[in-house]
Amino acid sequence: MKLLDQLTYPIIQGPMAGGFCVPALVAAVSNAGGLGSLPCSLLSPAVMREQVGQIRHATEQPFLLNFFVQKTPAPSEEEVASASELLRPVWQSLGWDSLPRPQQWCQDFAAQFETLLELRPAVASFTFDILDRQQVDRLHEAGIGVIGTVTHVAEALAWQAAGADAVVASGVEAGGHRGTFIGRQEDATLGARELWPQVVAAVDIDVIAAGNIMDGADIREAMAAGAKAVQMGTAFLVTDEAAVHPAYRAQLLSKTASTRLTRAFSGRYARGIENRFMRQMAAMEALVPAYPVQNALTGSIRAAAAANNDPELMSLWAGTGVNRSRPMPVAQLIHTLAAELGHS
Ligand SMILES: Cc1cc2nc3c(=O)[nH]c(=O)nc-3n(C[C@H](O)[C@H](O)[C@H](O)COP(=O)(O)O)c2cc1C
Repeated sequence: MKLLDQLTYPIIQGPMAGGFCVPALVAAVSNAGGLGSLPCSLLSPAVMREQVGQIRHATEQPFLLNFFVQKTPAPSEEEVASASELLRPVWQSLGWDSLPRPQQWCQDFAAQFETLLELRPAVASFTFDILDRQQVDRLHEAGIGVIGTVTHVAEALAWQAAGADAVVASGVEAGGHRGTFIGRQEDATLGARELWPQVVAAVDIDVIAAGNIMDGADIREAMAAGAKAVQMGTAFLVTDEAAVHPAYRAQLLSKTASTRLTRAFSGRYARGIENRFMRQMAAMEALVPAYPVQNALTGSIRAAAAANNDPELMSLWAGTGVNRSRPMPVAQLIHTLAAELGHS
């Protein structure tokens, strides 16, 4: 993929949905010689346009837009009622009589896709599912590079067959949601250092390595495994530009954080710092509805936790490398990584 060859440094800032990757962060990464990513999955077309405008105002460098490939669900009243019942111990602990009904389950992916075509970033990446050949062709016709997210070889081959230019190979250590879309999420447990060489050997397209990459030595290891670039999430979450709630940030920087996978917050397995919500919901985890229904249902709980400065009920997404996080401005992080890599 030409764009990856053109980057000053082979470093992609992982898209992180939830309002953390504000336009100033994305632009700062691209201006410093990496590739900034704007997570669009939770944004309406109007907000996508506004934020892309802000990025373009702050940088002339290429950047990436990222999406969850998903269909808007239509759960029955019974499904919603039983899912809120599973969450009862949590909302009762907040003193509520019932769990508020979300206004929407998720953004409309079809509308986001048309907006993506209109906005024409250099590249777009996708997770949670796969595009069809026709969608990939439309992106290519608009001059947009296409990257899929994979957690095992079969998914990498599927994206290659759909016409993708590259795949992000994301090991089980990675922070945030697993991208698994073929087979059961609980079976996609390959660690990054096993996954990268397997995917590199299986596909002809570029491979971007992700999962517990925190410093220059980690980047070198990924490149030695055959990756063309790396995608780092957790490392950018503690930069000065990231819009992270202070209580979440304190957990990220505690140096004693312990992470694990849970599907209790969102209905899809994701890695975060263990807290009371995860422990309280552990026995019900297998029963909660699939993403995005559970994610929407826990939205009011997470918002209340943020308002109360209570990290015990927030989703504290982070990778296994969290205790190696280095808080600093984006430009300094990129230059530190470049120096560790032996570039200037
Ligand atoms: C808070 C958080 C939110 C994330 N949200 C997204 C997302 O919206 N889309 C996506 O493709 N990946 C998402 N990820 C994954 C990152 O882009 C990246 O691949 C991952 O963090 C790499 O692993 P690391 O955290 O060990 O560096 C998220 C990760 C974190 C920590």
